[in-house]
Amino acid sequence: MKDDYLKINKDTWNKRSEIHFDSTFYDNESFLKGRNSLNSIELGLLGNLKGKKVLHLQCHFGQDTLSLERLGAEVTGVDFSDVAIEKANQLASKLGSSARFICCDLYRLPEVLEEEFDMVFTSYGTIGWLPDIERWAKVVSLFLRTGGHFVFAEFHPVVWMFSDDFSQIQYRYFNDEPIVEMESSYTDGAENLSSKNVSWNHGLAEVVTALLTSNIQIEQFQEFDYSPYNCFLGTKETPDGKFFIEKMGRKLPMVYAIKGLKK
Ligand SMILES: C[S@@+](CC[C@H](N)C(=O)[O-])C[C@H]1O[C@@H](n2cnc3c(N)ncnc32)[C@H](O)[C@@H]1O
Repeated sequence: MKDDYLKINKDTWNKRSEIHFDSTFYDNESFLKGRNSLNSIELGLLGNLKGKKVLHLQCHFGQDTLSLERLGAEVTGVDFSDVAIEKANQLASKLGSSARFICCDLYRLPEVLEEEFDMVFTSYGTIGWLPDIERWAKVVSLFLRTGGHFVFAEFHPVVWMFSDDFSQIQYRYFNDEPIVEMESSYTDGAENLSSKNVSWNHGLAEVVTALLTSNIQIEQFQEFDYSPYNCFLGTKETPDGKFFIEKMGRKLPMVYAIKGLKK
């Protein structure tokens, strides 16, 4: 199963990308009118992007990549879904953007891109699709110049321990077995989708250790009791647009964020 994961997940992400692109969840209409899709969590870590070369890993159809460009960066987005990359290029051309999008499996990126960046960025729903976090951290590090920064915001591994309806603890916190599921997706329009996917849970120590051993010094590490996205079942929204699991009463960590410096 593990060997097939790329084919299985790519098929799912191609189907999801078609649906997501037209969803109100991603709301391309307001995005094209100028909305910046980045959230306060990552905005708080990015700093001044004017003139910075930024590599965005697992960029989906590029809203965040193009939002980084709107903040002044020269951007490259990478994703293994050809549908997502095609849609990203569509958005970019509608905006007259000079963003570059590359269709590639994250682990194979060093075979097709030979450049260093001032920043590598990746966020929300990324590393769970990757089996080997040490290898991921090596890719992040390889593309950073010395003194460059890694900015990462991700759903907290505690969230992924629960069943979809948060009624029970279903999965181990620690990474051992791949998790194989049939799922729809987190946006509107995906109600009739049931597609196979393979994912992995990665605990915080696994991630931090992989970054440290890849020469990325952790400068900031944050945890949050909310998600900026309404992408889970049974959420409640705060007046300022933060989502938490209602039956958990805001007791869970839902997101973490890291800023690291390439030594
Ligand atoms: C939940 S999205 C994350 C992006 C961002 N949070 C967003 O909402 O636009 C996950 C992305 O990872 C991509 N992905 C999954 N596995 C990958 C791999 N092995 N290499 C490159 N991209 C991958 C998928 O195609 C998808 O676009």
